[in-house]
Amino acid sequence: MKLSGGSGVLMQVVRATKKLLYMKMTKLAVATLVAAFGFSIAALADDAKLPPTSTNAGVTYATDIKPIFDATCVKCHDGTKKPRAGLALNTLEGTLKGSKDAKVVVVGDSAKSDLVLSVAHIGDPDTFMPKGKGAKPLTPEQIGLIRAWIDQGAK
Ligand code: HEC
Repeated sequence: MKLSGGSGVLMQVVRATKKLLYMKMTKLAVATLVAAFGFSIAALADDAKLPPTSTNAGVTYATDIKPIFDATCVKCHDGTKKPRAGLALNTLEGTLKGSKDAKVVVVGDSAKSDLVLSVAHIGDPDTFMPKGKGAKPLTPEQIGLIRAWIDQGAK
């Protein structure tokens, strides 16, 4: 019958289209997987470069973090003067508020906080802190404390 011949061709077309769609979707899925995997590898690599989070409990800005900032950062990031990048690190409020462009602390996630990346010297060297001739980088212990402070809620 003519009809069955016609629908046979139609079925073939449908099958071929399905196959093509399936292949496209598979490719898309693979591409998505590769991208996601790539990102997590990149994130892992950065995480591995970060000094470990301090195991100290109850880390606060007032007792643990302000002394570090006062000694190394506040000469440039002083809210009572004109802080560089608009970032005042001399108070908890200023630190959480961030710079004129962006927040630098992601409360609860130190590995994603620009402040941590900048002192751990990860990413663009222009953003490495502290800046300035002869500036001494923070120690891994100091960075670990800052991480713990952020991960514990930046109180
Ligand atoms: C000698 C001056 C100086 C010192 C010391 C310094 N900074 Fe900075 N900081 C700057 C300048 C200038 C910028 C502006 C952007 C740039 O040049 O990267 C900046 C930018 C930043 C930013 C990025 C703000 C943004 O989102 O644009 C962070 C975070 C930061 N500083 C943290 C710190 C920390 C933490 C310390 C101490 C460990 C510190 N800085 C010490 C000069 C300084």
